[in-house]
Amino acid sequence: MKLFLDTANVDQVAEIASWGVLDGVTTNPSLVAKEGKDFKETVLRMCALVPCVSAQVTATEAEGMKKQAVEYSKWHKHVVVKVPMTVEGLKTLRFCKEKGIKTNCTLVFSVAQAVLAAKAGASMISPFVGRIDDAGGDGMLLIADIMKAWEHYKFPTEVLVASTRKSEHILRAAVLGAHIATIPYAVFKELPMHPLTDTGLKKFMDDWTKTKR
Ligand code: G3P
Repeated sequence: MKLFLDTANVDQVAEIASWGVLDGVTTNPSLVAKEGKDFKETVLRMCALVPCVSAQVTATEAEGMKKQAVEYSKWHKHVVVKVPMTVEGLKTLRFCKEKGIKTNCTLVFSVAQAVLAAKAGASMISPFVGRIDDAGGDGMLLIADIMKAWEHYKFPTEVLVASTRKSEHILRAAVLGAHIATIPYAVFKELPMHPLTDTGLKKFMDDWTKTKR
């Protein structure tokens, strides 16, 4: 299972990358706007830290998306072009597949959309589990359904669980065999924690101080 950080903050990427468990980063226009930094420079700094950085196109028509996809893909070999799940996006995914440009199809909310993106040649698809939960649904049920469809058809497209909000989303993504989870910084920091690890370590340390050395 690959673990990505969902952020446009380079310091956060550097910190989590130092743990030795980070496989990539996903950014989106909202995250980039929040940091208020130059987009290309941010992506390039992240590419120096991790092997896979999603950079989202902002054009809405296929011609514009394709142009941006070609441009971003020239920035660095670690760039993955993020394309929205629209008809124009599908055309762009097909174009990128033919050009050998890696893609991440974002804003996936149904199995039908997942299948279309896979057929168009997306390298990854991003179903947004947290936003489905917010709307009163069960985001992880969509992941379970997509993984079932993937078992039937063996699509090479990786399933990237996005819009995660809590460690339980990551745990369930792992149990379902999702290929990737992208995780907000605050949730990533919670993942190594367990109260029994803390009490267990405290006991080991207390006992160690009583040991003759
Ligand atoms: O990777 C997609 C993700 O950034 C969306 O997360 O929390 O805005 O639903 P959120």
